[in-house]
Amino acid sequence: MDNNAWDDMSSEYDNCVEKNPNPVISDYIAEEIKIIANLCKKNIQPDKKYTVIDLGSGTGRVLFSLYKILGNSVTFCGLDASEPMIQLSKIKQSELKIKNISFLNYDVTDSKIDELFDDDSAKIPMCVYNTIGVIPLSKRQQFFETMIKLAGKDGFALVSAFNGDDFAFAAPKIYHPMKSMVKRIDDDSFDEKRLAFKNSLGYYSQWFTKNQLKDLLDSEAEPIPIKVSINNKAHILGHVFADRQLCC
Ligand SMILES: C[S@@+](CC[C@H](N)C(=O)[O-])C[C@H]1O[C@@H](n2cnc3c(N)ncnc32)[C@H](O)[C@@H]1O
Repeated sequence: MDNNAWDDMSSEYDNCVEKNPNPVISDYIAEEIKIIANLCKKNIQPDKKYTVIDLGSGTGRVLFSLYKILGNSVTFCGLDASEPMIQLSKIKQSELKIKNISFLNYDVTDSKIDELFDDDSAKIPMCVYNTIGVIPLSKRQQFFETMIKLAGKDGFALVSAFNGDDFAFAAPKIYHPMKSMVKRIDDDSFDEKRLAFKNSLGYYSQWFTKNQLKDLLDSEAEPIPIKVSINNKAHILGHVFADRQLCC
């Protein structure tokens, strides 16, 4: 899947994610942000400076939500390879009149990403809403290493991903409400063997089991489940992973 595909999806992104009226999506993203914000609040030390770096920041929803909770105590940076996504983030930023978030058009698989951040703040790199699933296999391992390196000893890295252990149940619940963004759902779109959502237009998103992601992050820490109620029953549709044991 090439990065231009995200340029085409950018105009529908907010309608399908942060403004999606379907409760599966709205409850999922509310819970996801709640968990991430809580991890930040509990693990940020008051005497240190921090920069939250959102890798694949889309239209900025994660950083705008975190800003509302963490405020000016933290600096925020969103990186995205799609210029239309960055432009939409900047429009929203000026409407919200927020100053301490920067958005940059940048390929997050570039191993020199740490050169963008030469200040002395501790870094909190994060990769949210299964963005990890669209990082190409050939660059995946290095991407995780870059995140862990950015976090260093004073920060921490977070990955939020859809629940690959329950792919057959979770994937249709998540992608059907986002059809106007992914544009097509084919008979073979839910590939249970490969744990991937794909379509004939070239969209491909890899899902991971809990253990696969813990291995990729080289972390023993148990991920925090993202639970959503469907037909009055709580289902785990995703998890938030950390590269180390954190207070939660
Ligand atoms: C599923 S969206 C998630 C957006 C955002 N993290 C959120 O949670 O709303 C994936 C985003 O990753 C971006 N992306 C994909 N590959 C990328 C890469 N190699 N470098 C930077 N951004 C990338 C896409 O442009 C898209 O905006």
